[in-house]
Amino acid sequence: MTATEPMIALPPTDHIPRQYTGPSKAEIVAMRAQYTNPAIFTIYKDPLLIVEGYMQYLWDETGRRYLDCLAGIVTISIGHEHPKYVKRVQAQVGTLNHATTIYLHPNFPMLAKKLASKMPKGLEVTYFTNSGTEANELAVAMARLHTGNSDIITLRHAYHGNSATAMGFTGMHTWKFALEHGGRVHHAINPDPYRSPFSGTPEEVARFASNDVRDIIRTATPGKVAAFLAEPIQGAGGVTHGAPNYLREVYGHIRAAGGLCIADEVQTGFGRTGDHYWGFENWGVVPDFVTMAKGLGNGAPIGAVTTRMDIAKSLTGRTHFNTFGGNPVSMAAGLAVLDIIDEDGLQANCKARGAEFRSGLEQLKRSYSLIGDVRGMGLMLGIELVTDHATREPAKGQAADILEATREAGLLIGKGGLDSNVLRVKPPMCITAADVEFALDVLERSFAAVGR
Ligand SMILES: Cc1ncc(COP(=O)(O)O)c(C=O)c1O
Repeated sequence: MTATEPMIALPPTDHIPRQYTGPSKAEIVAMRAQYTNPAIFTIYKDPLLIVEGYMQYLWDETGRRYLDCLAGIVTISIGHEHPKYVKRVQAQVGTLNHATTIYLHPNFPMLAKKLASKMPKGLEVTYFTNSGTEANELAVAMARLHTGNSDIITLRHAYHGNSATAMGFTGMHTWKFALEHGGRVHHAINPDPYRSPFSGTPEEVARFASNDVRDIIRTATPGKVAAFLAEPIQGAGGVTHGAPNYLREVYGHIRAAGGLCIADEVQTGFGRTGDHYWGFENWGVVPDFVTMAKGLGNGAPIGAVTTRMDIAKSLTGRTHFNTFGGNPVSMAAGLAVLDIIDEDGLQANCKARGAEFRSGLEQLKRSYSLIGDVRGMGLMLGIELVTDHATREPAKGQAADILEATREAGLLIGKGGLDSNVLRVKPPMCITAADVEFALDVLERSFAAVGR
């Protein structure tokens, strides 16, 4: 172990990071404080300066290596600077980086075609954007145009982006991202059985929660529902989901009222949940729109909405244009990502590594009463911390302490949930069994240090 290595040794890597020669950490902190918007936050007490990445690892300015188990908040799918990806994106940057779809270029329809090959039949028309926020905005706009209705139903604790409209998709007074939405967004009760106001089996809780959507349609939006928007597994909301009957029942209520269903796959897509390529497939439903971003670009700014042709046609009545949406470089990134997910067997890796990770976390739960719940699928896992199993009082301070302790030991994870008491594990999909072992050892040691 060297001075720059953590106490528990990271699995070896062949990658040798370059010597960092940029501005010092103090200079960067000072520049941010003076010149960047103060709403932009960092997550550790002593902010982390990251200057290089390779596959599942990141390096700071001193050359210290970390195992990345947050992946830029689920943005890195195939691995940081995956060599094949870098080659393909560099080739496109060096050939043409033209930002408009008003001329033809092969990459734009090729990525749309490739996405269609990954979707259920009928979902085969894609509009590319720059972000997940825009993708959700566009899906909602199309749902409104197609149905002629105005109202949207989302879940409490949802996060679907940061535009003025998307901030309204989040439940007012239940989540810090909420923004006024003109009364056209309704927030249904979350189906998460761990924190539900309803009691019963997970299926019964899901039934109560889906009935809440039915009641909103009847009382608050009669004849006006355009769409239901939800993630198959809530990411920022704390890696929560309802029992398998939830989305099936909700989609039924929405469609009976003439509305459309939007699955936000920004975090759950591309095989991350292990058993399926898309998160919605875990629940046996087929949405009318699939929105995506983040992992599709593996770091390149990209978003997309895939829908059916009959719905997509609703946009043709107006001039709708996105300067960067569909640009050749982001499209090259998306094409490389989808190929590499298949070539490297990353969905299968999510399933296998996810099962190992989850079983290790269940084991930790038996040893540390601070852990109230372990949940998630594949490599999208959550560990909810509580001070008391009976009252389920959120252990917010302890979650922050664990985050600091894991960072000190060379492991980067995230935190989320309404009370910031859920640890989030969402690594690049290429992590190895040795990485999982390292992460579990670090978590064990961190729980031991922070307390039961
Ligand atoms: C589920 C989900 N939807 C949408 C978004 C917004 O994506 P973007 O930040 O690319 O606008 C996010 C971002 O975290 C997200 O997690």
